[in-house]
Amino acid sequence: MNHAHEALSVLMQQENNMKTWLAWGVMALCWSLFQAGESRAATAGYQCASCHGTTSEVLPAKHIKKNDFSGCFACHVTGRPAGTLAGMLHGRHLSAATVNPETCKGCHPAASGGVISLSADGGKKVRETDLPDLAQKTGNWLKSDTLSHAHRNKGVSCGECHTTYDEDDSYNKRCIGCHGSYDVMAKKTAKTRFSRNPHKSHYPTLKCTNCHQSHAGFKDFCATCHGFGFSWPVKAQ
Ligand code: HEC
Ligand code: HEC
Ligand code: HEC
Ligand code: HEC
Ligand code: HEC
Ligand code: HEC
Ligand code: HEC
Repeated sequence: MNHAHEALSVLMQQENNMKTWLAWGVMALCWSLFQAGESRAATAGYQCASCHGTTSEVLPAKHIKKNDFSGCFACHVTGRPAGTLAGMLHGRHLSAATVNPETCKGCHPAASGGVISLSADGGKKVRETDLPDLAQKTGNWLKSDTLSHAHRNKGVSCGECHTTYDEDDSYNKRCIGCHGSYDVMAKKTAKTRFSRNPHKSHYPTLKCTNCHQSHAGFKDFCATCHGFGFSWPVKAQ
């Protein structure tokens, strides 16, 4: 595990890219020497083996020992106690202060054409040029006073709100899928601390994110015309 520690701390310091690439070069060398006799198997897509040898080395005792990610999703999915694999591994490896595109590439390397895969089955992809934005959002998901961080604390990972990681995402559908429509929400906030119920209005199809921005502060959509003073205090943790 020693070389893994060094590799990650170098990645996290991230003083300049040259240093990182140098470190990766050294690591790749160590790894190619070390690789003889180790099977990389299907986890290779995430480069786990470049730092850990085999994943079974770092997983809890009695955990599934397969070197194959397909078996992980029997338990690591939304709504199960194990949590999603992405949420689990991002939480283990990344810190809000140091997260950046290079740390992502530790597990999500760029393929030819600058395409980055975000899932074991290769189905979810982004462009390498999108990585700085993704990394910045991951930073505030890990720790900040935004709604995305409040969700992280409840075990909700990126993939549960996102499909495409751009403006085409159907965020509203996802929010309603977990929380319920305005009818349901209006009942929940019937005893609101405000003079009007924020979920009951003459805008029955308003996007949730018109007020509840996920990676930025709460925004009072109604304020252009009313002085209800809606706010949502999210506590940073
Ligand atoms: C860039 C290097 C790097 C890569 C790539 C990497 N890890 Fe890690 N991982 C680390 C470091 C460093 C730690 C912290 C080790 C410690 O605290 O002893 C760690 C910790 C862990 C832990 C927690 C172990 C414990 O004892 O608490 C698990 C589980 C884990 N990694 C699994 C994975 C899996 C699965 C992958 C592939 C998806 C992966 N890692 C990819 C460097 C890496
Ligand atoms: C039979 C169900 C099951 C399967 C299959 C499974 N896991 Fe887990 N995993 C769990 C549970 C339960 C936890 C504990 C969650 C907790 O303590 O919060 C866990 C925890 C973890 C952790 C966090 C470890 C730590 O140090 O806290 C990682 C990383 C992990 N699993 C990765 C994997 C990977 C990779 C696979 C596939 C090779 C896998 N899991 C397959 C149930 C499973
Ligand atoms: C330690 C390895 C590791 C690191 C480092 C890592 N990821 Fe991941 N990431 C994973 C794994 C494993 C998955 C889950 C794959 C799956 O579900 O098939 C994943 C999935 C994702 C997803 C899909 C989201 C979801 O909830 O399914 C996104 C987006 C993502 N990663 C972004 C990032 C970004 C941005 C960074 C850098 C800030 C990063 N990752 C760093 C291992 C890592
Ligand atoms: C609670 C749901 C939620 C979670 C969890 C979440 N996001 Fe988002 N994300 C959104 C919404 C909604 C937007 C649209 C802008 C806004 O509301 O802040 C967005 C915007 C983005 C964007 C800009 C693209 C756009 O639509 O404008 C990126 C990139 C992104 N998120 C990445 C991530 C990553 C990576 C993670 C996990 C580390 C994550 N998000 C977790 C809901 C979420
Ligand atoms: C995978 C399910 C899931 C999705 C998708 C989801 N949420 Fe949540 N959300 C939760 C859970 C769980 C909590 C914590 C319990 C609660 O307050 O209901 C939560 C909490 C909240 C809270 C209270 C946060 C706080 O300060 O504690 C708000 C507001 C919220 N969600 C809005 C949204 C919006 C807006 C979206 C869409 C961009 C969204 N959620 C998407 C599951 C989800
Ligand atoms: C007009 C702005 C606005 C819109 C649009 C909006 N909300 Fe809210 N939401 C609020 C305010 C303000 C609160 C806090 C109410 C309070 O504290 O009494 C809140 C609270 C919440 C909570 C926490 C409720 C609790 O149990 O404390 C959730 C979850 C939530 N909203 C989800 C949603 C969803 C889902 C949508 C879209 C269907 C949505 N909101 C649309 C303003 C809005
Ligand atoms: C473009 C301006 C505009 C926006 C934005 C707007 N309203 Fe209104 N609203 C009005 C007008 C005009 C009336 C009718 C005049 C009145 O009674 O104040 C009204 C009436 C109301 C009423 C009934 C009168 C009252 O004060 O009880 C409620 C409740 C209400 N709006 C809630 C909302 C909520 C909640 C939002 C945000 C989701 C919102 N409105 C956004 C213009 C707006």
